[in-house]
Amino acid sequence: MKITVVGTGYVGLVSGACFADVGIEVVCVDIDQKKIDKLKKGVMPIYEPGLEEIVVRNYQSGRLTFSTNLGEAIQDSEVAFIAVGTPPGEDGSADLKYVLAVADEIGRTMNDYIVVATKSTVPVTTGCKVKKAIQDALDKRGSDLKFAVASNPEFLKEGAAVEDFLKPDRIIIGVEDDRAEEIMKRLYKPFQLSGDRIIYMDIPSAEMTKYTANAMLATKISFMNDIANLCELVGADANMVRSGIGSDPRIGNKFIYPGVGYGGSCFPKDVKAIVKTAKQYGYDLRVLEAVEAVNDDQKYKLVHKVKKHFGDDLSGKTFAMWGLSFKPNTDDMREAPAIVIIDELRAAGAKVKAYDPIAMEEAKEVYVGDKVTYCKDAYDACVDADALLLVTEWSEFRIPSWSALNKLLNNKVIFDGRNIYDRKYLNELGFTHYGIGV
Ligand code: UDX
Repeated sequence: MKITVVGTGYVGLVSGACFADVGIEVVCVDIDQKKIDKLKKGVMPIYEPGLEEIVVRNYQSGRLTFSTNLGEAIQDSEVAFIAVGTPPGEDGSADLKYVLAVADEIGRTMNDYIVVATKSTVPVTTGCKVKKAIQDALDKRGSDLKFAVASNPEFLKEGAAVEDFLKPDRIIIGVEDDRAEEIMKRLYKPFQLSGDRIIYMDIPSAEMTKYTANAMLATKISFMNDIANLCELVGADANMVRSGIGSDPRIGNKFIYPGVGYGGSCFPKDVKAIVKTAKQYGYDLRVLEAVEAVNDDQKYKLVHKVKKHFGDDLSGKTFAMWGLSFKPNTDDMREAPAIVIIDELRAAGAKVKAYDPIAMEEAKEVYVGDKVTYCKDAYDACVDADALLLVTEWSEFRIPSWSALNKLLNNKVIFDGRNIYDRKYLNELGFTHYGIGV
């Protein structure tokens, strides 16, 4: 079986490499020649645990190839996945220009029946637009070739994407005919999913499933952040409340950790996009509008605490910041709370010394630039700092040397944006601890 994956971003590259790993012949296509050249040399465009190994292994075996030529790649492919970016447009809705350009090119170059499956997160009704773009291109050629469109959204978590792909909780496939369903079944057979974990449905439902999953998870987080803020006011401990409610299986203990707000490439973008879609249909998704508003505010919470402790004017102060990426195990800085926190601290006159195990290069190049001093390790960031802000809960920050911090920090104050430290223990050591909801 041969397939083509268009777009070697996060979703496309992980999917292509994992399909190749179960024996499928995969061509990964991207318009970015430099990216393709690097991939051929084994240089990954993103940091993702296990990805390099699986890409290199399958490239060397010849099952995984890289190309900039989509027309050539899709010859004799049974499936073409569209996994190109859908950046948010100015009004918050997903911009489909890349998706539709790929659909058009497939229509112009396909040589046989093909299933065109969208993996990018796309608004409901995109399936119809993709179908129209392919059909229009075929009509222009005067071709009567047949094809089917499908929606196969991805549920990969950054930092665990390879594992999520190889051992998925579920696979959602939106299809419109039996022939396409049979091909998708064959494609996913190697993943040995027991019966009900591959769920077939119509295309709009598959598209809605993706948004609903991300929106629900974002809702859990904002809900818990909102509650955590109230916990602080009434003198309750949000960590206790979290374990108290999480033991109810109807609620579940995941995604209810209060913190500095959700970031990343999916939640912020997808919540905005579904709210926008609803508006286009004359409906207000009021819950999700609140989810977004709570999250926007939450990114400022840690700085509010800093100002409460040190005063509104932070000039002359220096803060150590541990963690820059939006979550651990990724170098992804998109919508990272750290960006807002840095800007706020600087606006109040403070300096920031930052350390992140993986994301410093990405931060420096694109998102933060020279606004902070980048440090060689966690302790280096604390030299002469007035206090420490924990922003991303990387494992290496979990049990620091408190005696070293005691010597390095000018004030024994920790602003713990992820509630990873035990306040009682820190108080015993003489530190002041601020958390979220505690
Ligand atoms: C998410 C979805 O989990 C995945 O299924 C989808 O395909 C893409 O979006 P990802 O963006 O990689 O994946 O990150 P995730 O691990 O879900 O975390 C998102 C954000 O929520 C992070 O900023 C994280 O710090 C935050 N979060 C998560 C919390 O603040 N509290 C929690 O309890 C859980």
